[in-house]
Amino acid sequence: MTKRPIIIDTDPGIDDAVALAIALYSEELEVKLITTIAGNVGLDKVTTNALRLLQFFGKDIPVALGATKPLIKAPIDASDIHGSTGMDGFEFEEPTKDLVLKEHAVNAMRRVLMESPEPITLVPIGPLTNIALLLSMYPEVKEKIAKIVLMGGSTGRGNMGVMSEFNIVADPDAAKIVFQSKLPVVMVPLDVGLKALVYPEDSEQLKGMNDTGRMIYQLFQKYRGGSMKTGLKMYDATAIAYLLKPEMFQVVDTFVDIELQGAMTAGCTVVDLKGYLKQPNNAKVCVDIDADVFKKWFLESLQKCN
Ligand code: RIB
Ligand code: CA
Repeated sequence: MTKRPIIIDTDPGIDDAVALAIALYSEELEVKLITTIAGNVGLDKVTTNALRLLQFFGKDIPVALGATKPLIKAPIDASDIHGSTGMDGFEFEEPTKDLVLKEHAVNAMRRVLMESPEPITLVPIGPLTNIALLLSMYPEVKEKIAKIVLMGGSTGRGNMGVMSEFNIVADPDAAKIVFQSKLPVVMVPLDVGLKALVYPEDSEQLKGMNDTGRMIYQLFQKYRGGSMKTGLKMYDATAIAYLLKPEMFQVVDTFVDIELQGAMTAGCTVVDLKGYLKQPNNAKVCVDIDADVFKKWFLESLQKCN
């Protein structure tokens, strides 16, 4: 089976760590490049976390550093959710920097895309700054992008504002550029992330599974994306789940735009499910997930790790 080439743009992030583990050990995906973006915590910390994970997994994937801040608005972070390091809970060995490219993430993405014999799927699981810069600086890459499968947004309530989700509200101007790009965009929003839950009995299975399971179990002790009792939210893993098992999702074709001006709603994704705005569809949006299928897939996927 030929592997599907992907580039992951990430801000590890405990849920990013889970998504990266599943993607890196999948027999169906070829991770061509990992680019880092300031998000959950600052760029240096998320990059160190990405390198820590690659060293832990023993995977030699090139890493390129991206933007240190959003296009226009002031940076926000989610250290309250992931800890001050961005990945509290497990003592990783200090990683080497051998995998770090000298190129900026945007230039590295352009090179990898233009060199590829086939289109590549972009998988942003953090703020969309790098992706917006790529599309703005190098529009020629669009023909080499198969699709953009992004974790972000919400058809309803938010997790970083009344109506706004962290990845989008962290850089709403970048998100607007991505949704207006006319590229095939798949939005994997909070609506499904809130149902992709890991409960204590699931975490206990991780402890006895393998080294990766044990590491993730430790990270979960510090992860505040939900609670052990009510379930930990595997937001970013849902984007990987869409790549590997899309049938677990209910998906609709619709129009999505980003509110930039609202005094109370700036940064929210306006998902026009009923066509009030009379705009052409520009995204597939995952509006529901089979939580049982996700849980089974989640545990089976982590079983494949070392
Ligand atoms: O809202 C959830 C998203 O914000 C996830 O990508 C999480 O890692 C944080 O970046
Ligand atoms: Ca993330």
